[in-house]
Amino acid sequence: MKGLILSGGKGTRLYPLTYTRAKQLIPVANKPVLVRVIEAIRDAGIDEIGIVIGDTGPEIREAIGDGGQWGVRVTYIPQDAPLGLAHAVKISRDFLGDDRFVMFLGDNVIQGGIADLIAQFGDSRWNCQIVLTPVAEPQHYGVAELDADERIVRLVEKPREPRSDLALVGIYMFDHHVHDACAAIRPSWRGELEITDAIQWLVENGYAVHPYIHRGWWIDTGKPIDMLDANDHVLEELTPHVAGFVDRDSQVDGRVTIEPEAEVINSVIRGPAIVGRRTRIVNSYIGPFTSIYHDVVVEDSEIEHSIVLEHSSIRGIPQRIADSLIGRNVKLSRSPIKPSAHKLTLGDYSDVGLL
Ligand code: G1P
Repeated sequence: MKGLILSGGKGTRLYPLTYTRAKQLIPVANKPVLVRVIEAIRDAGIDEIGIVIGDTGPEIREAIGDGGQWGVRVTYIPQDAPLGLAHAVKISRDFLGDDRFVMFLGDNVIQGGIADLIAQFGDSRWNCQIVLTPVAEPQHYGVAELDADERIVRLVEKPREPRSDLALVGIYMFDHHVHDACAAIRPSWRGELEITDAIQWLVENGYAVHPYIHRGWWIDTGKPIDMLDANDHVLEELTPHVAGFVDRDSQVDGRVTIEPEAEVINSVIRGPAIVGRRTRIVNSYIGPFTSIYHDVVVEDSEIEHSIVLEHSSIRGIPQRIADSLIGRNVKLSRSPIKPSAHKLTLGDYSDVGLL
């Protein structure tokens, strides 16, 4: 089997963080989401991976290279315009050949990986396997209607009046018949060739499409709040280790990871949390569900339930920062007038003096 990762798209809902960075490269628990996807596919025993790239292609190529670092071989497939997931399959035809493959959206994070799913599909004669999960607002997703025997009746992309709460997770398995489906369908109202329509075509034409219902968590990291949610889940499952330096005046509990060359001085860190390489935490409090990436300085400040990206500094902020997503090269320092709360989504290279 092969893997196909979709990593085009501008990530407009994550602006300003994605003005200057591909959304798939934003880290969750200090590891880019795209790297998590590559590892999930590799851990399912697949080492040949195609990555469909768009405008942010150069940055993705630079970060992932030939994939050797993760034990996989990566082929890049440029997509000129974001014309839909089925369009991405179409332009990947040469790479895919007639092989069975798993398609994984490069901004999805799922509990438990996909090894079992891939093994199940690999051993089966199904033409397609889709992953479904109950969600609160199905109208924002592809939605599946199943009959009493859990067979697919219908799939509809972002229906106004959803017939069920089962959303299509961004992980799909196909055999070569999907290429006939992608050739047969027409663009949707949003001008895209929808993979949901291609799968509906498979169902209508008598191919075996198996629905797997996922019961764990799944996050499509489209919006800042989704990044924080994904970060919470992944931090909770991280096996902690302390490689950096923690001085005797600090308190670091058992669910904290301190990466190599990080320093924690006279500070309290409550897990689950992670502190990245070469980051310095001085006279500060880092609360639960916080990921501080590499080369950051946090001094005389308190922060919890947040993500801080690389090369940023937070110094002397009197009130606790919470529920925040702070970009790269951000400088946050004290200014005389105090706000009573901090709720921030700051872009890369921001320079903020708080009230
Ligand atoms: C895409 C699919 C949709 C699926 C979703 C999962 O939506 O079209 O069927 O439920 O991914 O993340 P999009 O992200 O293009 O809006």
